[in-house]
Amino acid sequence: MARSVIHVIAAARPNFMKVAPLLHALREDGSFEARLVHTGQHYDANMSDAFFSDLGMPEPAHHLGIGSGSHAEQTGRVMIAYEAVAQAERPACTIVVGDVNSTAAVAMVCAKLLIPVVHLEAGLRSFDRTMPEEINRLVTDVLADVLWTPSPDGDENLRREGIPESRIERVGNIMLDSYELMRERIEADGTMHSMGLAPGAYGVVTLHRPANVDEREPLALLVSQLRQVAEFLPLVFPVHPRTRKSLAAHGLAGELESVPGIRLVDPVGYVQFMNLVSHARLVITDSGGVQEETTYLDIPCLTVRPNTERPVTISEGTNRLVPPAELVGQARRAASGDWPRGRKPELWDGQTAARCVASLKHRFLFPTPVGADLSANPSAHPIPSAAGTRTAVPAVAALKSRP
Ligand code: UD1
Ligand code: UDP
Repeated sequence: MARSVIHVIAAARPNFMKVAPLLHALREDGSFEARLVHTGQHYDANMSDAFFSDLGMPEPAHHLGIGSGSHAEQTGRVMIAYEAVAQAERPACTIVVGDVNSTAAVAMVCAKLLIPVVHLEAGLRSFDRTMPEEINRLVTDVLADVLWTPSPDGDENLRREGIPESRIERVGNIMLDSYELMRERIEADGTMHSMGLAPGAYGVVTLHRPANVDEREPLALLVSQLRQVAEFLPLVFPVHPRTRKSLAAHGLAGELESVPGIRLVDPVGYVQFMNLVSHARLVITDSGGVQEETTYLDIPCLTVRPNTERPVTISEGTNRLVPPAELVGQARRAASGDWPRGRKPELWDGQTAARCVASLKHRFLFPTPVGADLSANPSAHPIPSAAGTRTAVPAVAALKSRP
């Protein structure tokens, strides 16, 4: 019998380490025919292709090639391009991840085509609607049929917003599945050594939030703080393309390049990045994913943001929100070893992808008529049968041991 087709959407750097473990688990299970759709929101080799090779991801079945643009342009282009694919293939469900523009765009398309939407990493809230990601999270979650959350705060947020309990499932944090899949290669990787760095004797920096990097004033403050941190701790800073452009536009690139203790590099691949982070003394970031990875690895994380949608990384982990003006003092504290230790939150265990597959089988393999009571049986959507070829994904064992 032909297997049901499901679409898995990837768009930007933080999506790849979330969809890769899911694609591997779906392939091993074999119940569905998973087709990867890449919207092309990120397109530079070091923001996209690098992760396909690092994480052993299959070639996308569809590449929408939407590229950069304003929020409306990007969202609109994804909607137009994905609508055609979704109409042609009528997947049994479409899985969207995270909170980028493509996530919300695809969710809107599916909702109107009556294609069930599954949101991986649902329920996170910064309660800060000046962040474009918060808008994407709200839109996606209100439309999603199945909401897979990483932590109890996610469940609570969704309940408070009136999402029916039957749609919410806590599956854990899938980013750490990628870490566990790649652990051997991350530990064997030579990136730290090749940069002349020693374990525990440097910091890693990533910055790309518009509120930090787009305007000159906040960016200049961060540049000045990083220069001072580098006086007592060498820093490695893989620079996001948004930040690279802004540093150049505001004439600030030279202020970082001229500091001997700061090594500016292009964005690095997943294995290289995790090799650097796993041996770092501390991490300075405004990234969502990096807050989680540092909690998992028990590395001090200084998040230069006024809020986080990932509060569990503070309540249980090593993450602390740091006002930019206090960065030097807090980094000195962390570098001296005066920083709270953390523990791994529940279900951040490298097994999230397996729980996602179990959820999909439970919800979509045994269809019930439209209109059926979801609380009695969560699989309230008929599944169109679909034929097609199986996507080639390297076996997980082979992936782990690849050089
Ligand atoms: C996007 C996401 C953000 C996520 C981040 C991860 C939205 C609203 N934002 O932000 O949530 O944290 O990705 O990295 O979806 N650019 C390139 N090459 C690329 C991609 C982007 O040069 O491959 C440059 C372009 O100038 C572009 C700018 O970066 O205009 C911003 O890209 P965009 O995808 O709009 O937002 P990000 O800042 O990357
Ligand atoms: N990352 C990477 N190379 C880099 C910077 C980041 O591989 O140079 C990975 C890292 O695993 C991180 C993920 O990309 O958790 C998330 O990317 P980003 O910070 O761009 O997005 P966010 O999580 O803030 O949405």
